[in-house]
This record gives sequence, C-alpha cells and structure tokens, in this order.
Amino acid sequence: MTEDRYIIYGAGRQGKGCYEFLKNQGLSAYIIGFCDKRHKEIQSVYDKKVYSYQEAKELGAKFIIAVAVGAEEICDMLDADGREYCALDELAHLVNKNKVEFNREYCAFFHIDNMDAYFEDAETELDGFWNAETEFYRLFSQLDLTNVIELACGRGRHVKQYIDKAGRITLVDILQKNIDFCRSRFSDVSNISYYCNDGYNLKELKSGEYTALFSYDAMVHFELIDIYEYLVDIYRVLVPGGKALIHHSNNDEDYKASFEYSKKGRNFMSKKIFAHLAYRAGFTVVEQQVIDWGYKDLDCITLLEKVN
Ligand SMILES: C[S@@+](CC[C@H](N)C(=O)[O-])C[C@H]1O[C@@H](n2cnc3c(N)ncnc32)[C@H](O)[C@@H]1O
Repeated sequence: MTEDRYIIYGAGRQGKGCYEFLKNQGLSAYIIGFCDKRHKEIQSVYDKKVYSYQEAKELGAKFIIAVAVGAEEICDMLDADGREYCALDELAHLVNKNKVEFNREYCAFFHIDNMDAYFEDAETELDGFWNAETEFYRLFSQLDLTNVIELACGRGRHVKQYIDKAGRITLVDILQKNIDFCRSRFSDVSNISYYCNDGYNLKELKSGEYTALFSYDAMVHFELIDIYEYLVDIYRVLVPGGKALIHHSNNDEDYKASFEYSKKGRNFMSKKIFAHLAYRAGFTVVEQQVIDWGYKDLDCITLLEKVN
C-alpha cells in the first residue's frame, strides 16, 4: 500500500527537518528513504538511504515534497511520471491529529534547532523592518507602545529597536527555548515579561490591558485557522483604541500551502482573507501594504484597530 510508505523528496535541511519531526511524532517507520539529486554526495540521512529519482520511482512509495525551492518542477515531473506525492501533513491522521495542529507543531519544531543559523543571521538583517523609509517603520510609528506585546518574538532581535520608546513589553513565543534565550538576553531589563504560549491564543494575558501588539516574520508561516484564533484573542487583550500590526502571508496560489509545503514557507493567506478574518474578529482594518522581498507580492503588512 503506497499510502503507508513514503519517500521524502529532498535530503537537505527541509527534508531532514521533516524526518526529525516525523521521528519525534513516532512515525519514522513510514519513511523508507529519501530522494535527492545529490544522492551520491549525501548517501544517507540518519539510518535512511538517499536514492536517485530513478531508483526512488521503482520503490512504489508516495513522495513527501520537502524542498525549499523548486517544488513546482518536482511536482510537474512526478505528475508526468504518474507518481503520487503529498505534503507532510498527509500523515497527521496517523497520530490522530488534525492538519492544523500537525502543521503548527511542525513549524514550531522546525524552529528549535533548524533555525539557529537563521536567528544568528537575522540579527544583522533589520533594515527591511526598521529603516525609516520602510512601510514597516511608518506603520509601527502609529502604535502606542505604553504596554506592547511582541508576538512570536524569536530570539528578541527587534527589541532593541523599540525598547527606548516602550513602557511595558510582553514577549510571546511558542518555543520555551526562545523565551529562555530572551529572558537571559534581557536579564538586566526590568520592564519585559515573558510568555511561552500554545501557538494560537494569548489566554494567559488579561483582557483590555495592552495598547499594541505586533508580529514580524512569523505569522507568514502560521496556519490560517490559528491566525483567526489569534486575531480574536488579540482583539480581547487590546485596550479600546489599541492597534495591532501584523506581517502575514499573501500566498493564495495553492489552498494546500503550509509552512512545509509552499514557497518561502508562506502559509495559505491573502491580503483580502486577512482583512476578512480581522473584521470578523471585531477589528477595523486601518491599512494594508503588500510587500515584495524579491518574490513579487509575497507578504502583506496589516494595521488593525480595536475601535472604541
Ligand atoms: C522566523 S522566526 C521570527 C522570529 C522574530 N519575529 C524575528 O523576526 O526575529 C518565527 C518565530 O515564530 C515562532 N512561532 C512559530 N509558530 C508559532 C506560533 N504558532 N505561535 C507563536 N510563535 C510561533 C517561532 O518559535 C519563531 O520564534
């Protein structure tokens, strides 16, 4: 049965990350190997062989696409050869999880160790958000930072950009590793609180207390359904007149898109869908700006207000 045997297409960082996650979920036995054009160089990942495409095709298993770039070409090739393929989340039912939970857990898991290099490099890549010419900077200037939440704060690279203007700061992230990192990084700062949350709400934060919330370079990866849950809770915790500035995905090409299965890890979302979700959560949409990062219209930044 091909459904019970999978080959991970891609033996690089993403393929390895998928396998480690599946192992963590107790599903490694479903993976019979990897497929990668660098099969002579890589040969094996953990205990699994890396096959050439010619060899992998003969194994009769379904491919899980796990590449950072070039997924479309691979899917076209598999279509032309009549081979089956899927995204990682097709395995969710094997652990009695729904795809939203499974993808949320994968996204968080991937950030534990796989993103260490990203976090280091990102420390010096702040210009796109904080240069005075950017839309991010212009919209951020509209936030009242008296009591601000930074959602999905990572290792805290943005904090130094706004701490001088902030009253109280609450740093929130799904990963305890990131919260611990920030706690130690800002140990000499007294106006920061820390919250390791469950990945889709802010239930430990009080209602009507916060003047602003922002989130950069993170919600682009979140499941659309989790984003709606967040929006409802962000509305709850803001004071009347409070604002939220959210950087999100504008990728609605493939309804199956997820952090694992999309270009640049952009989840399924669009400018208009985000506005709709925010409106349903109670917000007024103040402004939306589509952002290009070398990929046309990849992302969007939206400013929301909880009108009095
Ligand atoms: C690409 S990093 C960006 C971190 C930070 N915003 C920055 O710009 O440096 C994405 C962050 O989102 C966090 N994250 C992933 N899924 C999450 C979720 N569902 N809720 C909250 N944080 C999440 C990860 O732990 C990680 O810190």
